[in-house]
Amino acid sequence: MCGIVGYVGPREALPLLMAGLRRLEYRGYDSAGVAVQENGALEVLRAEGKLDNLATVVSTHPAHGHTGIGHTRWATHGRPTEVNAHPHVDCGGVTAVIHNGIIENFEALKAPLVASGHRFASETDTEVVVHLLEEELAKGLSLDDAAIAVLPKLEGAAALAFVSARDPGKIVAARISNAGGVLVGYGKGENFIASDAPALIEHTRAVSFLDHGELAVVTKDAVRFRKLSGEPIDKKVEQITWDPIAAAKSGYKHFLLKEIFEQPRAISDTLLGRVERASGRVVFDSDVKMDDAFVRTLPRISFVACGTASYAALVGKYLIERLARIPCDVDFASEYRYRQPVVAPGQLVVAVTQSGETADTLAAMEEAKKQGARLLSFVNVVGSQASRVSDDVVYLHAGPEISVASTKAYAAMLVDLYLFAIYLGQRRGTLDAARSRQLLAEAFHLPTLVDAVLGEEPKVRALAYRYYAARNFLFLGRGVNYPTALEGALKLKELSYIHAEGTASGEMKHGTNALINEDLPVVAIALKDSVYKKIRSNMEEVRARAGVVIAIATDGDEEITGKADEVIRIPAVEELLSPVLAVVPLQLLAYHIADRRGNDVDQPRNLAKAVTVE
Ligand code: AGP
Repeated sequence: MCGIVGYVGPREALPLLMAGLRRLEYRGYDSAGVAVQENGALEVLRAEGKLDNLATVVSTHPAHGHTGIGHTRWATHGRPTEVNAHPHVDCGGVTAVIHNGIIENFEALKAPLVASGHRFASETDTEVVVHLLEEELAKGLSLDDAAIAVLPKLEGAAALAFVSARDPGKIVAARISNAGGVLVGYGKGENFIASDAPALIEHTRAVSFLDHGELAVVTKDAVRFRKLSGEPIDKKVEQITWDPIAAAKSGYKHFLLKEIFEQPRAISDTLLGRVERASGRVVFDSDVKMDDAFVRTLPRISFVACGTASYAALVGKYLIERLARIPCDVDFASEYRYRQPVVAPGQLVVAVTQSGETADTLAAMEEAKKQGARLLSFVNVVGSQASRVSDDVVYLHAGPEISVASTKAYAAMLVDLYLFAIYLGQRRGTLDAARSRQLLAEAFHLPTLVDAVLGEEPKVRALAYRYYAARNFLFLGRGVNYPTALEGALKLKELSYIHAEGTASGEMKHGTNALINEDLPVVAIALKDSVYKKIRSNMEEVRARAGVVIAIATDGDEEITGKADEVIRIPAVEELLSPVLAVVPLQLLAYHIADRRGNDVDQPRNLAKAVTVE
């Protein structure tokens, strides 16, 4: 949530900040603002709503200066108005703060400041920080020393950045808690800060990531790092290997459509180098350090994840239980962290996360770690917090995912979890060489098969245009495609704002059947697999109650014709890989319905890409 950028150097800061914010708008789009500092003065420009509104303000009131910070907001405390937009300034208007996260004790901190005469302009939790800084700066402290005096007083999660006309040509950026990342980008005679790499990869690929309790003091010629105790520290300089072109729309109408169509490539990239030719064994990169003895005695795996990633984890449970015979459970990370989970000795906790910055997932990981679990994360964003706190990491290699709705990262999660299930099965002796060879051969066909499903796009679009006005949708799946039904419903909800529910089809008779009528399109994932007959009966039950059935069926299945009102076909594939194909028409359906309804597909209302608050 909330995007943060900053620049200090010889160039005009404003255009660079605006370009950085464009790259980060997916993180929050309730309001945006910039603060530019020059010659002992600070100028702040802000606008409610999308970044275009700020661009209009900037075009009529350009702010000149060579040091600046910018912010896109996803509102937590205070409505999405201009007054609540960041940056927030102190009473003198000389120091500015931007913030991603929540300051839980802001009311307690605010009361004495108000009593001593500080004037607050906004309803936000953030503004308290700048007034606290004002107090410290008035004592003659530098901006970083003032930050070191203030930050330990804050409770909650925060990534923050400050500039001040009292300490010109400097940005101070800080990170409190594991949620909400900040990185520093090193340029030549100029430096950058950002909450997320896409904001700065155009300018530099050399970066350092802040950890919990650290701050960066950034000037045009130098970057220094300090602990919140004040002690100086050294940070590793890392290289970002992403292709910046991959973060552009490349002729597609939306990032989402581009990312749906990038799935064959994401799948090839994630498969690359993960099977040893000679032995046929799955091998992960050096970031997976668990040894075979650990794998052989693993008593249980617990998955923690949120949203789409949690549905990938649920598929992972089916795969691992089937292929490696290890009991698995899956929790929403937001539930796990508060339900006093029991961690068995020697067990593995697996986090699945595209961003690697989801606050609930990080907190669940922290809880598991505290209880002695080994942590493995499946993560897309290299260098993200989840990857850094894990004992083992499987990178998804899906490339930057910009659209708020996750698609290609989901495909990569499914494929990596499939590989992981084989990896475990091979080491525990639950999979013989012939079966693992066959399973892996199927995986290598996936990019071509997904391409074939994408070829059905015109048909799915026509379907979307027939049903775009529906008020509700139901998605049915069973077995390994039950999570596909959940994901289909989530995708439709978040993109089209149509109410949708995903149900395990065997559960229909226990309540959901009562919803069926001629106004409820029911999407049934009815593939020729081990539960085909069961789901066909469920479809009959829907049709018997005048329901409309849209079937996702296997190529060549003639029995299905006549059992459904609409049929979208996907190629036959190994059952355990079928979720990778079956989800594609559901992504396209959600996309085209949302686009037909005129929604903002890449930035759905009330959402943000990386959910770095609870
Ligand atoms: C996906 O379409 C959603 N926007 C959302 O559910 C997302 O999957 C969830 O917030 C988890 O994010 P993560 O993978 O970055 O942890």
